[in-house]
Amino acid sequence: MNDGDGTLGAQDRGRRFGPLGTALVIIPTYNEAENIKSIVGRVRNAVPDAHVLVADDNSPDGTGKLADELAAEDDHVQVLHRKGKEGLGAAYLAGFRWGMDNGYGVLIEMDADGSHQPEELPRLLTALKGADLVLGSRWVPGGRVVNWPKSREFISRGGSLYSRLALDLPLRDITGGYRAFRRETLEGLGLDDVASQGYCFQVDLARRAVKAGFHVVEVPITFVERELGDSKMSRDILVEALWRVTSWGARERVGKLMGRSKPSSQSRPSQP
Ligand code: GDD
Ligand code: MN
Repeated sequence: MNDGDGTLGAQDRGRRFGPLGTALVIIPTYNEAENIKSIVGRVRNAVPDAHVLVADDNSPDGTGKLADELAAEDDHVQVLHRKGKEGLGAAYLAGFRWGMDNGYGVLIEMDADGSHQPEELPRLLTALKGADLVLGSRWVPGGRVVNWPKSREFISRGGSLYSRLALDLPLRDITGGYRAFRRETLEGLGLDDVASQGYCFQVDLARRAVKAGFHVVEVPITFVERELGDSKMSRDILVEALWRVTSWGARERVGKLMGRSKPSSQSRPSQP
């Protein structure tokens, strides 16, 4: 378990992790025409062995068509065209399924707008050699945000703190969206019953990973606010996050009161 500073808990020392397979960087997009070429190019330069999957929700601004052009000239780039805007969570679930069906060993989440710097990806992948899931973290020592308004920082820090306390999670950045999963980790999260649509999808997956006993490590990142295009953050996304996190937390507390013990490492996959 992560102790909050990226170190290993005693129970994890000595655990052996299998080799990393080919990585797929999944980039969900909705109206990112100004950003898509730059982000895909930066990923291809930073991690030439990795493949890219753009998961586009039929963006009205033509992002999907631009992604098709990139895919036509680069066999490491693919596009998943979805029928309409269904939220970040649904786009990632479809991307994960596509990646697992196509045999990738590592599935990565990355925003399209440059907030998650592809140049930091090698550090996340190095950490994944000794972990089941790596979270790029703004709120561990060494992590930071650039050009974020104080109001947005307050919401993000508050969201992580609330999730940490309500769900009893030993993590600092629970809502972040720059992550690297081993495929075996995703297979152990029960993705078929994930209903979270907006940014609380990130909280949902982090919480499932911890409860399933997976070894989750936070690596500091520098999150750079987008320069082009608009954030899709909305009141609805915040409200969904608040009620879901609150109801997960309440359910867990009731479960504990009824004498059910906390899930332990039982569901952790057997060691390779
Ligand atoms: N396909 C698809 N469908 N993509 C979407 C949708 C959707 O409905 N909504 C957002 N996206 C894509 C955006 O195009 C972008 O690539 C990425 O998801 C993140 O969206 P932003 O709108 O840029 O998010 P943000 O900057 O406000 O929020 C960031 O911080 C959140 C809180 O920490 C992201 O990193 C979130 O993942 C994170 O939860
Ligand atoms: Mn953004």
